[in-house]
Amino acid sequence: MSIKAGVHDVVAVIGCQKMTELGTPEILALMGRVGEVQWESGFGTTFPGYYAMFAKRHMHEYGTTREQLLEVAVKNHHYGAMNPYALFRKEITLEKALASEDVATPFQVYDCCANADGAACVILASEERARELSQKPVWLDGMGCGTASMSVLRRPNLVGLPSAEQAAAAAYEMAGVGPGDVKVADVHDCFTVAEIMAYEDLGFCKKGEGGPFVAERQTYIGGKVAVNVDGGLKAKGHPIGATGVSMTYEIAKQLRGEAGERQVPDADVGLTHNVGGIGQYCFVQILKRD
Ligand SMILES: CC(C)(COP(=O)(O)OP(=O)(O)OC[C@H]1O[C@@H](n2cnc3c(N)ncnc32)[C@H](O)[C@@H]1OP(=O)(O)O)[C@@H](O)C(=O)NCCC(=O)NCCS
Repeated sequence: MSIKAGVHDVVAVIGCQKMTELGTPEILALMGRVGEVQWESGFGTTFPGYYAMFAKRHMHEYGTTREQLLEVAVKNHHYGAMNPYALFRKEITLEKALASEDVATPFQVYDCCANADGAACVILASEERARELSQKPVWLDGMGCGTASMSVLRRPNLVGLPSAEQAAAAAYEMAGVGPGDVKVADVHDCFTVAEIMAYEDLGFCKKGEGGPFVAERQTYIGGKVAVNVDGGLKAKGHPIGATGVSMTYEIAKQLRGEAGERQVPDADVGLTHNVGGIGQYCFVQILKRD
C-alpha cells in the first residue's frame, strides 16, 4: 500500500520466527492465549484443541473421514520431500499417519504442523522499478483481508473461517479472477482440517466436499488446483512469523517457472491464504505473471 501511495518504490518484507528454544508444552500454552481470554483460553484451549473442534464438526456435518483428513498430510509430506527448505523431507503413508500418537481428538501427530525456526523475505517494488529490477516480475494483483470474532463460540459455524471467505472475495474481486482461474495455491494447513476448510472457503470446491476433493487428488499437481506443493505448514514447517512471507516466495517461484520438480505446468495465477489466530483474521493474495 505504501508503494501504491507513492511513499516508497522498493520495500523488503521480512518474516522470521525462532520457536525451538521452548518445549512443546510451553509453546502450546503461550500460543493458546491467542484465543478469547475470558471464556476460552482460561479453560486451557490450545491450537490443536481448537482446530480439533472444527474437525469434529466437519466430520459430523459432512461425513469427512479420518482418512480424508490425513490425505492432506500424505500429500504435503510428498511435496515436502522435494523441497530443500522443508523441515520434514520424508514421504509418509496413510497407514503411518493413522498409527501416529494422539494429540487432541480426532487429531494425531500427522494432523498437526510442527513448531519450527525459519525466515523468508520478498522484495516488493513499484511496476516501473519491478520492470527494471527483474526479468520475470510477478504481479500482486489482488489482496483481501477478513476478520472474525475473537471467540469461536460467536462464529456462525465451526466448519469454515468467515475471515477467509471475506478475504478471498475481496482478493478475487480486486484481481478480476475467480477460484477456477487459480492454478497453484499455498494455504494455511496448520492442521489437516484447516486445509480442507481452506479449499471450501476459497471456492476450490463446494462446502463439505473438501475431504473427497483431496482424497481424489484434485489438489496434487495435475489436479484442479495444486495446493501446498512446497510441503505446506505440515511438512515445510510453521515458524509462525515467517509462514505468510514464505507462501508469497513459493508462489512467486511457481509463477516464474522456477519450482523444479514441484513445478505446476502453466502456472499463471497463484494464491496465498494465511490465517492468524484461529481465523480471527485472514489474508488472501492473488499473484500473476505477465
Ligand atoms: C504435534 C505436536 C504436539 C508434537 O509435539 P511433541 O510430541 O512434543 O513432539 P517433539 O517436538 O517432542 O518431537 C518428537 C518427534 O516427533 C516429530 N514431530 C513433532 N511434531 C511433528 C509433526 N507435527 N508432524 C510430524 N512429526 C512431528 C519430531 O520431529 C520428533 O522426531 P524425532 O524423534 O525423529 O526427532 C507439536 O508438533 C505441536 O504442538 N504442533 C502444533 C503446533 C501449533 O499449534 N502451531 C500453531 C498452529 S496455527
